[in-house]
Amino acid sequence: MKKLISLVLTGAMAVGMLAGSAMTAAADDLPILGAGIYSSTDNFNSYIAKAIKNTSEGVFDCNVDDGQLDQSTQLNQIDTAIAKGAVAIAVSVVDVTAAPAIIEKVKENGELPIIFFNKEIEDKEVVNSYDKLYQVTSTGGDYGASIQGEMVVEYWKAHPEADKNGDGKIQMIDLMGDPGHTATPPRAQYVKSTIEDAGIEIDLLEEDTGMWDTAKAKEKMDAWISKYGDEIEFIVAANDAMALGALQSIQAAGFNEEGAESEMFIPVIGIDALPDVLEKIKSGEMIGSVLQDANTQGQMIVKIAQNLYEGKEPLDGTDFEFDTDGSKAIRVPYKAVTVDNVDEAAATYEA
Ligand code: GAL
Ligand code: CA
Repeated sequence: MKKLISLVLTGAMAVGMLAGSAMTAAADDLPILGAGIYSSTDNFNSYIAKAIKNTSEGVFDCNVDDGQLDQSTQLNQIDTAIAKGAVAIAVSVVDVTAAPAIIEKVKENGELPIIFFNKEIEDKEVVNSYDKLYQVTSTGGDYGASIQGEMVVEYWKAHPEADKNGDGKIQMIDLMGDPGHTATPPRAQYVKSTIEDAGIEIDLLEEDTGMWDTAKAKEKMDAWISKYGDEIEFIVAANDAMALGALQSIQAAGFNEEGAESEMFIPVIGIDALPDVLEKIKSGEMIGSVLQDANTQGQMIVKIAQNLYEGKEPLDGTDFEFDTDGSKAIRVPYKAVTVDNVDEAAATYEA
């Protein structure tokens, strides 16, 4: 009897091992999606990377490379993915001017599809230089800043006490993104023009770049909070990573510690609606953000690659259409996020 049990066990183990190796073989057999973000230090891009990885499960063999802010590193990563037999490439480029070089690579290597995401390639000549080029970004040329401006206006009108010096103008700080980035000029421009179009004057105390980065934004804000203190009536950041840096800085100076109940309070608003920021909105430490929906963007990147691999139309089975502006981009809508709908924004990260 003992012998029989041990035989059965050995048999079961053998079957288990076989099943195990069959499973590994299946994973190895998946087609390769060569994906990469321009830097893992960028919080928003890291959420797109996460969505790409999750959506790729069972569909593609996909590790999302970190371009480390270095274009030649990213080009090498693309070369490696192609050498391994990637069936498509998807990247947020380190430098948009490298797009033609990337297009050359995929063209020469079996005409692979290339999907640019996050950093839109705006040069239509480049976009139209290759049939199998697609883009996944967010809506509109204002990059979410009009919504952000409307949110500032709404808050300002609902909170007369926000005009601390009573001059009718907003004493405002504007933290801008990386100056070399397509979204940076429109975000700085549209947030201000939307506020001014609503008939509210801005007294711009400071406007400078925080390079999309929490630590860099904090450093800038440290200098400004000690210079202006309570004279600051609004802090507008072109993304949430910088809004978080600004918040850290003003909290160290005694502002916004108790959320909206704080005795010393400066409204702070960002763009992206990162999970960390949603917590700050819930607690009242920040007044809002603009959702950029990293999850849907990541899902669509994988879906387009999968459709093309299966010989289907790129947007088959999706609710999206390419923009008619010649950008070959699908645009995931931005959305205002305040304490009233913060859970809705949080749910996009679980989808
Ligand atoms: C923007 C985003 C920023 C940063 C930037 C990098 O769309 O709002 O947080 O990720 O892209 O390209
Ligand atoms: Ca004022």
